[in-house]
Amino acid sequence: MNVLVVGGGGREHAIVDSIRKDGETRVFCAPGNAGISSQAEVVDLRANAVEDILKFVEEKNIDFTVVGPEQALASGIVDAFAGKKKRIFGPTNLAARLETSKIFAKEFMLRWKIPTASFKTFSKLNLAELDLYLKDAKYPVVLKADGLAAGKGVSIVDSYHDAKDEVEKFFVKRVFGVSGESIVVEEFMSGTEASVFAITDGKDYVVLPPAQDHKRVGDNDTGKNTGGMGSFAPTPFVDDATMQKIRKEIIEKTIEGTRAEGFHYTGCLYCGLMLTPDGPKVVEFNARFGDPETQAILQLIDSSVLDLMEASADGSISSYRLSLSRSAAVCVIAASEGYPDEYQTGKTIEFSERMSGNVKLLHSGTKFSNGKLVTSGGRVLGVTGIDRMGSIGRASNLAYDYLRNVKFEGMFYRRDIGRKAIELESRKEVQ
Ligand code: AMP
Ligand code: GLY
Repeated sequence: MNVLVVGGGGREHAIVDSIRKDGETRVFCAPGNAGISSQAEVVDLRANAVEDILKFVEEKNIDFTVVGPEQALASGIVDAFAGKKKRIFGPTNLAARLETSKIFAKEFMLRWKIPTASFKTFSKLNLAELDLYLKDAKYPVVLKADGLAAGKGVSIVDSYHDAKDEVEKFFVKRVFGVSGESIVVEEFMSGTEASVFAITDGKDYVVLPPAQDHKRVGDNDTGKNTGGMGSFAPTPFVDDATMQKIRKEIIEKTIEGTRAEGFHYTGCLYCGLMLTPDGPKVVEFNARFGDPETQAILQLIDSSVLDLMEASADGSISSYRLSLSRSAAVCVIAASEGYPDEYQTGKTIEFSERMSGNVKLLHSGTKFSNGKLVTSGGRVLGVTGIDRMGSIGRASNLAYDYLRNVKFEGMFYRRDIGRKAIELESRKEVQ
């Protein structure tokens, strides 16, 4: 079987790596990266070059395609493939609006009574109304660009003064371009965050172990939002009762709502959640696997991830049996100095030790230049420690020990990935 994975980051490396476990499969990746090139045949096509990718799939007799990034979904890759009867994992352009338009997602949740922060939407047509709203608001409030903004379109503001500065970014400086022409202003929710992925065929679904991302660039959740600086799974903050609520009140209502509204969601429904004192609430939906959560989560799955993705595309999720190991995984991202703002690339990456069985090294932004492995992105590598007995503390030690053997100029990483879960774990051990 020939499989193509679309994308070229840590998430796609994790997907390629797990597909490779299925022996007989020949794996291609477009555009891939240096790490991926040792496990798949990389193809020099951008992830949202839909027509070129489709042509490649037809020429190479690709049986199944997996879409990693949201930009490709927004470009309508799934619709184009459906038109040519090519099998593909991911939602259509219409269904992906749950991610590509925050306003659409919030209004959808309101229609289907899915728990989320209360909100109002504004555009350049009602700026005076927005100003009045912000004058009266109870702070902090959260401002979000409607469209895709690579995880950077969200700001939490503590005062009217700060809110005005942010509004200027959206509507005057236009830092998010068209994505910021409309915005959502929403209630601030406090609690612990969790990422829960449901793989669905539009009717049935399978839930993967719950994970937690660390979005801020600095330790103790300080500094700017990033694409994600580290993750761990399973998160002990989602207990069985909470998971039941997430299933009933969020995942099932969403799948039911998408069917009732006629846009049939298939692929990975990423539920970004806040575990509040009033129960789990949706922070955001994404229409694809999350990164870096996927780097940790896929290490816990014993059954075939390729079969699962095929079942999602083929409408046969009800007959898929998910088998999980008892492991816990912690993924720490090594990033380039300056990220998530400007950073340099082309820095040589050096390793002083080979990968051990309990550590998975996945590449996010790397390439080969004159035969040398160099950095090519803000997030460069993901190091995932895996503890077979399910200890997040031990998994974290494995990841951090390994990171001491990796070097590139300007490399930095958070030192506290999974810390709160490890504290909870040790309190439980003491009891
Ligand atoms: P999003 O891109 O919508 O996931 O937002 C990025 C990050 O901003 C989230 O992971 C949260 O940490 C934070 N965030 C977004 N919305 C809220 C909210 N309503 N209350 C508190 N934090 C939020
Ligand atoms: N982990 C955040 C994201 O994938 O959007």
